Amino acid sequence: MSTDAIVLLKEDHKEMRRLFKAFQDAEEGPASQRQKLVGQILEALTVHTYLENEVMYPEVRKLLPDLEDDILESYEEHHVADLLCAELVTMDASDERFTAKTTVLIENVQHHIEEEEQEWFPKVREALGRNQLQEIGERMIELRKDAPKSPTAPKAIKKAIDAATA
Ligand SMILES: [Fe+2]
Ligand SMILES: [Fe+2]
Repeated sequence: MSTDAIVLLKEDHKEMRRLFKAFQDAEEGPASQRQKLVGQILEALTVHTYLENEVMYPEVRKLLPDLEDDILESYEEHHVADLLCAELVTMDASDERFTAKTTVLIENVQHHIEEEEQEWFPKVREALGRNQLQEIGERMIELRKDAPKSPTAPKAIKKAIDAATA
C-alpha cells in the first residue's frame, strides 16, 4: 500500500465520488437509504477534511509558499462544506431541505476535489520529493486513527435551521 500523501488523498476522493453517485442514484429511493448514504458521506468528509486541515494543508503552505493562495481558498471551501455538514447532521431525510442541501454539498465538494486534483496537487507532486510525500502520508495514516468521524453540530445551528423551516 502506498503511503504517498497525494495517492492517499485521491483514494479518499474516489470513495467520496462513489458515495456521491450512490446518493444521486438513490434520490428517488427510500428515505432510509438516503439517510444512510448521507451518514457515510458526512463521515468520509469529516475524516478527510481533518487530515487535510491538520497535515496536508499546513505542510504544503510551509514548504511551498507559492501555493499560499490555493491553500487559503481551499480552507474556505472546507469551511463552507463544514457548515453544510454541521447542518445536515441535525437533519432527517424526511426534511424537505435534506436532499437539496446534500446536493449543494456534493456540488461544492466535487468542485473542490477537482481544484485539488487538477490545479494544485500536480504542483505539489512536482515540487516535493517522493520521500517527503511519503512522510506526509505516514503522518496522515497515523492521525486517521484519532480523526473525528462526525461533524460537530452546534446547538445554535440546529436552532437556526428549526427557525428557518418552522
Ligand atoms: Fe480539501
Ligand atoms: Fe481533498
